[in-house]
Amino acid sequence: MRLTYPTWATIVLLAAASVGAQAPPPPPPADQRPAPAAAPAREPRPEETQFDAEAVQRGQELLVARCGFCHGSNARGGATGPDLTRSPMVQEDENGKQLGEFLKVGRPERNMPKFELTPQELTDLATFLHAAIYQIGNRGAYKILDILTGDARAGEAFFQGAGRCASCHSATGDLQGVGAKYEPATLQERMLMPRARRRRGPPGERPTPPWTEPNAVKATVTIPPAVSFTGVLVRLTDFDVTIYDPETKQMRSWLRKDDLPKVVLMDPLQAHMDMLRKWTDDDMRNVTAFLAGLK
Ligand code: HEC
Ligand code: HEC
Repeated sequence: MRLTYPTWATIVLLAAASVGAQAPPPPPPADQRPAPAAAPAREPRPEETQFDAEAVQRGQELLVARCGFCHGSNARGGATGPDLTRSPMVQEDENGKQLGEFLKVGRPERNMPKFELTPQELTDLATFLHAAIYQIGNRGAYKILDILTGDARAGEAFFQGAGRCASCHSATGDLQGVGAKYEPATLQERMLMPRARRRRGPPGERPTPPWTEPNAVKATVTIPPAVSFTGVLVRLTDFDVTIYDPETKQMRSWLRKDDLPKVVLMDPLQAHMDMLRKWTDDDMRNVTAFLAGLK
């Protein structure tokens, strides 16, 4: 048997392949951050509070569905994206014009994807963002509905039924108190990407190897005719495979040729990966509302 210790580059590649891009540490929660300098508290003037409530609501839904994953579902910053209410570009935007020009291009090199939005969607999004900025500058004078606009009962039905969440989770077992553990935006993020946050250690610390994670991808290697080994997948190419046995803390590697030995992978979070493509906005909102109620 040959022992291979793969390079960090390979590990990062593997990690990237299974979880999507690595994300930087999250910003502190909104309530611990200083109030935005550019939106100081002042007397609200009546004409300023005239945001079209329906446009605000549509804009918020769009933001939660398309941007919330990175910027937080209240736009106040999320796991990877900055607080949009403090962005000079957003603050200076006129009815979606500057925002639309920016979104057409994005900053793909810095993980800000580009978006093709219709003029209506842009106006809604801009109205929501301007209302959010206004709300921050005029606490109490204007209130946007919380992210929890979903229907918790419908969410529960989805959780127990069509979503098949209950095949792995239970509202009175592992997810008990999950609504108290995370604020809603984080909760939604965990639900969509349970693996993402795990990989990051404290800033400056060397990350723990991905194969020591509790939810790491497992691999079963079968040597013909019928001997098999199961462990955590460390490396898999056309030419070799390496697995790690958490009990003995040993790595085992085999050379491969013509797809032999056979390797079968099992990702404990596969169900979540699959859901990412299937969630409707409604289901996502409803389940978030349901889970947020599990205090
Ligand atoms: C995959 C994560 C991701 C998604 C989804 C995403 N963003 Fe971003 N966004 C980022 C990151 C990261 C940055 C910071 C880029 C940089 O450092 O220049 C950013 C920057 C921005 C900025 C510029 C802020 C500034 O002043 O520099 C705006 C505006 C913005 N995003 C709006 C949006 C909107 C609106 C959506 C949804 C339609 C969206 N983003 C979706 C990750 C994302
Ligand atoms: C095949 C099993 C499986 C299915 C189905 C599944 N999950 Fe999970 N889920 C997991 C695993 C494994 C984790 C990671 C648990 C951990 O790290 O503690 C997880 C994590 C989570 C978390 C984060 C918990 C935390 O404390 O951070 C939430 C929320 C969640 N799942 C919600 C759901 C919802 C909602 C559904 C249905 C749409 C669902 N899951 C379907 C296996 C599953």
